[in-house]
Amino acid sequence: MADESTAIVAREDFPSTTLTERTGLMGKKVTVVGAGFYGSTTAQRLAEYDVFETVVLTDIIEGKPQGIALDLGQSRAVEGFETNIVGQSTGPNGEGYEVIADSDVVIITAGLPRKPGMSRMDLLGVNAKIVRQVSQNVAKYAPEAVVIVVSNPLDEMTALTQIATGFPRQRVLGQAGVLDTARFTTFVADELGVPVRSVKTLTLGSHGATMVPVPSQCTVDGKPLTDLLPAEKIEELVLRTRNGGAEIVGLLKTGSAYYAPSAAAARMAKAVAEDSGEVIPVCTWVNGEYGISGVYLGVQAELGAEGVRRVVETPLVDSELAALKEAAEAVRAKQVDVLDL
Ligand code: APR
Repeated sequence: MADESTAIVAREDFPSTTLTERTGLMGKKVTVVGAGFYGSTTAQRLAEYDVFETVVLTDIIEGKPQGIALDLGQSRAVEGFETNIVGQSTGPNGEGYEVIADSDVVIITAGLPRKPGMSRMDLLGVNAKIVRQVSQNVAKYAPEAVVIVVSNPLDEMTALTQIATGFPRQRVLGQAGVLDTARFTTFVADELGVPVRSVKTLTLGSHGATMVPVPSQCTVDGKPLTDLLPAEKIEELVLRTRNGGAEIVGLLKTGSAYYAPSAAAARMAKAVAEDSGEVIPVCTWVNGEYGISGVYLGVQAELGAEGVRRVVETPLVDSELAALKEAAEAVRAKQVDVLDL
């Protein structure tokens, strides 16, 4: 058992500076709307980064976000982070939303997940109503926030959030490409028996049937993936990536993936809060890049405090570009539909 002097030494080991002094992120605040599996794991990752002053978690279920916030907060002494975690229930008319005021970033995870056999598109009607209501409250209570959408169907919910908030397009983006790329990278690394850090992959397009994995841009230790695996094997991994979410839904049976998705969303929020300038695949408004205009689509973009600084075009082979254009048209048709939901 530690004696008192040991305990004092241990306490002195804790950083004596404040969070903002250590990170330079002066009082940054991030809100996660929806305290389900995706939202609670995202809040946990954000808190454990220990770069935000405050993480707010909200949900329509009374007590759930408060309970998770208390529980997470009690892990601080073990995990060694200082982030303040606040849980708040919200009502149908925006009750409780004052808590999100001054958020730098809001992540919307509210909405139903898939069940086995469902496509993300099957969630369109029900999640559109939820996301619209959430967006209107975000616009009212956190009008300067950058909004990261993760509710499905992702591309359509991102477009709807921009319309319902009325925010500049650069300030509303969706999480898909970081996750899809992470899945592709994992499958390649496992296939070749190499560390994930040596693999670079890329996926563009939609977060659904028209996802466009981009093998021509994939490398392993700097060598083209196309030199390391036969075309049929790459196609197999591409297919598994496209069905990566469904594979997990089929196993879980009662919900969808959340560990890798929350890692992806938290990483995006951190890039925005840190104004990092990282170039990562996200769902954002495309305006002329790749010859595509006027649609929310998965592309690479440079992230900063204002959300998306710019879309970064990547060289694509003809078949990949054709697939990206096809994805854009498929998503465009559905994004028009959400206006009426
Ligand atoms: N405001 C806030 N929270 C809401 C609202 C709302 N208007 N409507 C529903 N919620 C909450 C639910 O009460 C629930 O706690 O959203 C949470 C959703 O949690 P889960 O059912 O666990 O779903 P999860 O796995 O977190 O997925 C959330 O992310 O990946 C997508 O397809 C997935 O659309 C789904 C979303």
